[in-house]
Amino acid sequence: MIIIYVLLYNGMISRKAKIRFGIVGFGVAGRIHAEAIRNVYCAELVAICDISERKREMARRLYGVSVYADLVNMADDDEVDAVSICLPHHLHASATITFLQMQKSVLCEKPLATSVADAQLMIKAAQASNTMLGVVFQHRYEMINQFIREEINQGLLGKIISTSVSVKWQKNPVYYRGWQGNISESGGGVLINQAIHFIDLAQWFNGGGKEVYGMSITARDHLSVEDNAIALVVYKNGAVGAIDCSTCANPMMGSGLDIIGSNYSIRTRDGEIVSWGRKSSNEIESLNEKFRQHGKFKPKQNHYGYGHALQIQDFIQSIQEVKQPLVTGEDGLSALKIVLAIIESAKTQEKVTLC
Ligand SMILES: NC(=O)c1ccc[n+]([C@@H]2O[C@H](COP(=O)([O-])OP(=O)(O)OC[C@H]3O[C@@H](n4cnc5c(N)ncnc54)[C@H](O)[C@@H]3O)[C@@H](O)[C@H]2O)c1
Repeated sequence: MIIIYVLLYNGMISRKAKIRFGIVGFGVAGRIHAEAIRNVYCAELVAICDISERKREMARRLYGVSVYADLVNMADDDEVDAVSICLPHHLHASATITFLQMQKSVLCEKPLATSVADAQLMIKAAQASNTMLGVVFQHRYEMINQFIREEINQGLLGKIISTSVSVKWQKNPVYYRGWQGNISESGGGVLINQAIHFIDLAQWFNGGGKEVYGMSITARDHLSVEDNAIALVVYKNGAVGAIDCSTCANPMMGSGLDIIGSNYSIRTRDGEIVSWGRKSSNEIESLNEKFRQHGKFKPKQNHYGYGHALQIQDFIQSIQEVKQPLVTGEDGLSALKIVLAIIESAKTQEKVTLC
């Protein structure tokens, strides 16, 4: 007893209250969040909202939580401190603002919104209500990307010359029959849905985007969103890069980054290092093993990675300690600006300068 008191007194054991989470949208992402929240210290899942009665029933059965059909009623629930927004993209802004105005912190799935104006309103709503707004880019939390960011920060790569993104996945017709295939609900295709994770990493490593020139095609006739896109990017630090993404490739053909620094280069694919400067294949394998152990991660089996629980943990800490999380609303906006600029450039066939 005395030992516990001494540890508490010295700040070595946290006595912080649990953050009670709600989830809005209990589909693919909602279920990932539910499992992640259950695995995070200091988090408790207390409510789930979905318009589908079947999903509400599933949520009640799996987690024994309060369920809501209307998110406005969940925003009124005093038992909810924070929410994960896991809705189709066009609903992110209105849902997030509803919760922020009720003093609930919001962790919103990517993309932050489908327009820059909406994203800016969300950021302002968080500032006005003194609550936290975070955007899910879970790959930032994986050890491999933390490791790369640290090498860059320490100047070990030298000056970054280029950073290119490659995302080659397969999404079948059933996937595109949902909101994902409809531009008014998704705001775009492969760029805003899949490539945005890697575009975010690239812009995080290079201090944001400055200019883009993009091209896209829709290979499947019935879609109103692009399923292939190519873009050239100039980042704020002067580095250049290509973005090459498709959902028409072989399943899990791979995704990752090529970062070329003046001292050495790094290539990643599917959460592992493929090439790292002059490191031998044994050294690279032992690094990859470390990364796999960190997330108990099986590359190629799960393209969502293992960062959701780590991001939720960081978000909780940001609420408890009243400090910004690693991925803020502004970060979500920076990645979104690049994506929307590529979509615009593909339409106008003009270079777009980001402001
Ligand atoms: N970070 C990741 O790796 C990752 C993975 C998958 C999806 N996502 C993101 O998560 C979000 C949701 O995607 P998903 O694949 O889970 O979609 P989904 O279609 O599987 O789930 C969306 C859920 O929202 C519910 N819904 C729709 N309108 C609603 C409303 N007004 N109120 C309450 N519930 C409503 C639907 O019934 C459905 O259950 C998107 O932003 C997507 O980009 C992120």
